[in-house]
This record gives sequence, C-alpha cells and structure tokens, in this order.
Amino acid sequence: MDKNSGAWSGRFSEPVDELVKRYTASIPFDYRLAEFDIKGSLAHARMLRHVGVLSAQDLAAIEGGMADILGEIRAGRFEWSLDLEDVHLNIEKALTARIGDAGKRLHTGRSRNDQVATDVRLYLRDALERIQSGLRACQASLLDLAEEHAATVMPGFTHLQVAQPVTFGHHMLAYFEMLSRDHDRLGDVRKRVNRLPLGAAALAGTSYPIDREFVARELGFDGVCENSLDAVSDRDFAIEFSAAASLVMVHLSRLSEELILWMSPRFGFIDLADRFCTGSSIMPQKKNPDVPELVRGKTGRVFGHLMGLLTLMKGQPLAYNKDNQEDKEPLFDTVDTLVDTLTLYADMLKGLRVKPEAMRRAAAEGFSTATDLADYLVKKGLPFRDAHEAVARAVRAAEARNCDLAELSLTELQAFSPLVGEDVFAVLTLEGSLAARNHIGGTAPAQVKAAVARARAAIA
Ligand code: ARG
Repeated sequence: MDKNSGAWSGRFSEPVDELVKRYTASIPFDYRLAEFDIKGSLAHARMLRHVGVLSAQDLAAIEGGMADILGEIRAGRFEWSLDLEDVHLNIEKALTARIGDAGKRLHTGRSRNDQVATDVRLYLRDALERIQSGLRACQASLLDLAEEHAATVMPGFTHLQVAQPVTFGHHMLAYFEMLSRDHDRLGDVRKRVNRLPLGAAALAGTSYPIDREFVARELGFDGVCENSLDAVSDRDFAIEFSAAASLVMVHLSRLSEELILWMSPRFGFIDLADRFCTGSSIMPQKKNPDVPELVRGKTGRVFGHLMGLLTLMKGQPLAYNKDNQEDKEPLFDTVDTLVDTLTLYADMLKGLRVKPEAMRRAAAEGFSTATDLADYLVKKGLPFRDAHEAVARAVRAAEARNCDLAELSLTELQAFSPLVGEDVFAVLTLEGSLAARNHIGGTAPAQVKAAVARARAAIA
C-alpha cells in the first residue's frame, strides 16, 4: 500500500519515484512548524464545531488526539515519515491513526495551501517576538556602555581618518539608534504577518459555512487575508521580514567591523572577553575576534536568503505553486541566525573592556580639535572659509614640528591669525571640544547622559 493513501494517491496508478519523493518532500525541514500546525488545526476544528460542521464528539477526539501528538513531538518521540511528505500530512495521518474518522474530518473546508500559509505566519510572528527581544537586550547592553563611557573621549572618524573627538558613549548610542529603527521595522512587518489565510482553502475559498473571524480570534490574528488567491500565494510578508532582518545584520556587521578594528593592536581601543575569542593553532600569541568576524560573515547568508525569497516569488502565477515550499529553509535560517547573533551580541557587549587611555591618545594625535580652532576664529569675527585656511596652515606647522595644535605657543598660533588670544587653549582641549557640542544629538557628555536617560525610558 502506498503510504500516501488518504492524502492524494487515489488518483495515481503507480507509486511515486523514490528520488521524486525525496525531492518534493519538505518534512526534513518543515517539521519545525509542528506546534503552529497543531495550533492552526485546533482553531480550524473549533470553528468547524462552532458553525455546526463538526460534532462535539469529533472535536473532543481531535483535541485529545492532538494533545497526545503534541506531547510526543515535544518529547522527541514522534516518528516523522518521508512518505508522508510534509508536516501537515504527518500530523493528520497520526491523528487519524489514533482517532479514526474524526481525524479524517479535520481537513474539511481547508487545504494544505491555506494551512501552510497560516503555519508560516504563526511561526514568523513568534520569531519576530524573539528577535525583537534580542534587539532590546543588545540595546540595553549598548546603553550600559554609553552610560559608563558618557565622557570617555575617542577619535571620531570620517573616511577612517581622525576627524573630531567624540565620546565612546556617543558612538555606542549611534548603534542604539540603528537597533531602535530595526525594532520598529520588525513591529511594522508584524502588522502584515499577523493576518489569517485559513479559509482561502486551496485557492478560491470553500463551500462550507466557515467563520474566518472566529479562527482569526482563536489564533490571535489582527484580521483575515481579504482575498483567497492572494492568501495562499504571496509570501511578501516573509520577504519584507528578510529585508528587515538584513538591515539588522547590516548594523551588527558594521559594529563587528569596528570591534575587530578596535581590537587590533594598531588601535588597541578595546578588548573582548576571552569567551568570545579563539586562538590560533600555529601562532601562540593570537587572540582572534571570531564572533564579530562571523557576524560580519553571516550577514552574507541573510542577504542571500532575501535574494532567494525575492527570486522565488517573482515568476509565480496565481495562486499556490509548489515553489513556495522553498520559502521555509531561508526563513528558518534567517531567524536562527538573527536569534543566535543577537543573543551572543548582548552578552559580548557586556564583556567589552574599554581602554580609555588608548582612545584618548589616538584622539589627541590627529589634530582632532582643528575644527574647534576654526570655530573659535569665526566667533572672533573671521569668515569661516578664512578661518579654515588659517587653521590648515597651523596644522601644517604643527605637523612639521611633530606636535599637537595645543602644544604650539600663543605667539606661534597668533602668526596664523592675530585674533588668537589666551582663551584659545580651552577650545583646543579634547574636553573643550566635546563640551562645546552641547545640543540634542551632539557628543557633549551631558547630552550623552541625557540621551541615555531618554533611551532607557523609550525601551522600558
Ligand atoms: N509542503 C507544502 C509547502 O510547504 C504544503 C502545501 C502543499 N500544497 C500542495 N498543494 N501540494 O508549501
């Protein structure tokens, strides 16, 4: 007997080819939808009872049978069969084996097409929650660092050249902002994920007197998909999730790149806790920042999944096509990658050791207060372009003498502009430069502290 009997084999005269079976089966990966599949089935069965299509006894049998099956799955005792193709048929078959005809009635008014679309949406809704809380954990770690280092000076870079002094806390808050937008974006994706496809059946709806709103309420959906063809067919919600996930990885990859640079002895700004690094099998002195490197590397696979899903969708005519079975592996891998990355990251940031002396030294080396000197001259009445020119000449002189601007004497500085007075030295210090940028979004330590306080309230 073909084990597919009961699902669809009645129409066929020879058993399916072995390789075709393996090629078309999704059970090796979609078993992960089991909990959501059962949830969806129970909501569907309760609705069928509610509208009088299913008897109370049948519903009770289905509920009992599903509880047992769920228990087996959770205990790892459920036997998944490749012959039964996917998670939906595996569970339905196990149910029927237990409770007989009541199990066979479960699929009334439903198709695997609306069933799988529902499962994927339930899975993704749950994943969104896990990813959003991972983002919040990372943000909390960033805020702790920002608060502790609200006044720790480091060089700010443009073009990776020393530009102006900033605080390390300010730098951490930049990433906090990026992750805030990621959190918002995922919340926005959730609105479109959280709609119920069930009721669309295979593609056209069903002739049973179903109550889709009932099922939507049971499953916590905000509403139903309005068009049955669209409901079983489009995976745009998965694609936009992947796009938002890609941006999360972009942000973490950028931070990773900085951590890697900063940990290089050439910078020596930070050290990562040993548990996030590995050594070299040949060079005994090495301590490598493997975790940030892998975050940077895994960003590529998440981008790849986004491309994969877009391409999967682009040529499909309405409505459901088997192509869509290929949505799951990229989606699962994207979720797994993000959840693990965010979990590791929140902890790695907690173990970050900041080296303020090295940061200060680097900030003092690159004429990072040159803009402050120009601004000083502007305040004394010089047009900005002339001030820029005067300071450029001062920088050249300091460079030739291998010293910083603040180490030039008053007379030396006055050679570049007679407007320079005793008070110039206050603006040439790193602290003076930081304190001067005292407005919302600026790097002054007081602003960083205020920003941390606002951020804490925002994510509380
Ligand atoms: N395993 C299938 C998927 O993931 C379930 C839907 C199958 N529907 C069908 N008509 N063959 O998309």
